[in-house]
Amino acid sequence: MKKILPLPQSFRGELQIPGDKSISHRSVILSSLCETPVEVTNFLAGADCLSTVNCMKLLGAQIEQSAEKILVTGRGLRGLREPADILDAGNSGTTLRLLLGLCAPQKFLTTFTGDSSLRGRPMARVIKPLVEAGASIVGRNANRNLPITVLPVANSLRGITYAMPVASAQVKSAILLAGLYAQSPTTVIEPAPSRDHTERMLAAFGARLERSGNAIKIFPADKLTAPEKISVPGDISSAAYWLVLATIKGGSDVTIRNVGVNETRTGILDVLNLMGAKIELRNVRTSGGERSADLHVVSSKLLGVEFGGEIIPRLIDEVPALAVAAAFAEGTTIIRDVGELRVKESDRLAAIVDEFNKLSPETFSATDDTLIIRGGREKFFAKCTTHADHRMAMSLAIFGAAAEGVALDDEACVKISYPNFFDTLIGDD
Ligand code: S3P
Repeated sequence: MKKILPLPQSFRGELQIPGDKSISHRSVILSSLCETPVEVTNFLAGADCLSTVNCMKLLGAQIEQSAEKILVTGRGLRGLREPADILDAGNSGTTLRLLLGLCAPQKFLTTFTGDSSLRGRPMARVIKPLVEAGASIVGRNANRNLPITVLPVANSLRGITYAMPVASAQVKSAILLAGLYAQSPTTVIEPAPSRDHTERMLAAFGARLERSGNAIKIFPADKLTAPEKISVPGDISSAAYWLVLATIKGGSDVTIRNVGVNETRTGILDVLNLMGAKIELRNVRTSGGERSADLHVVSSKLLGVEFGGEIIPRLIDEVPALAVAAAFAEGTTIIRDVGELRVKESDRLAAIVDEFNKLSPETFSATDDTLIIRGGREKFFAKCTTHADHRMAMSLAIFGAAAEGVALDDEACVKISYPNFFDTLIGDD
């Protein structure tokens, strides 16, 4: 049980946030496919990325970890080995889906499992295109859920052209990774642009990719060439909690250093600014193909807004934090096309309605794929459950800090993406 008290004063100062989760996963996976050592700095040592580290070690990579730095020594694109044990992806959809794509073309057997949340999440969306390319993959519940086994392939996979029914960077990345080993080019078409870290890093490692509209084509590769160093920018999904808290808590003034501001991730900035937030990008720079900046935010009055469609994949993980902002805004906010939130680490639409309404009654409601927030209602202290979901825990915590406080049943889940979140919110206690 963790009790968060209302913030006594405004929220001010300079913050460093942990490394980007998506880029950390990809830097371990791609570095493991090279022949020279890669030093990854500002690596997110959260539980999800450590699941990827453990899986890549079992697949033959050598990985040394010290604090926020890892050194990855791979065995080349065709040097992966049959793991001696089941690969455990823990809570991490990214680990599982990307590694399904990586293991699908291999000439050895791999079996995956994960925690109870991941075992309930949909995997047919990634198995289907890989099987279409010639992979043999079987899973529980008619090939929909973990545990999943990838059988050795006799021949290389075929290059496919696949139109994804849902915008998912994980599924896109799985298909692209499998495409590295295919007989001919692979094209994946997304319904709307999702985060493109895989494409950027693959290109930086020498793979040949072509983008045309929403189609991405990858050519089979003989080898990947690693840079000596990768510096992971801060995670905008982690910055989101501080952007919202500083905006809604009067008198605040915060600078968040070194935040990744890749265009496919900045939907949160667009929506907060549309609501009336005052967020400024300073010191914008690009490194390793990824843009980063310092974000300066001061508190301001917010108005309800309506949005959906193409912007959703650009802010999908920030919807719980945006829902908090909307509860403090004047008027109603309507967030459309967010049905994907029902299959995240928890059913986030249900969790938001169940838990956030305890802190601000009759504020939140949802249909199958729309979230409606009636802002400006009275706020109370309440005991809430995090649904063992890191983003719910952090969103509830900032909600309580900005209002009348909150007690969380289980706060340990923040270790998935932001191990020292509570130190930043309330200091060491
Ligand atoms: C991620 C993609 C998104 C996101 C997740 C991380 C990634 O998932 O929600 O937290 O690193 O590729 P989907 O691909 O399921 O949309």
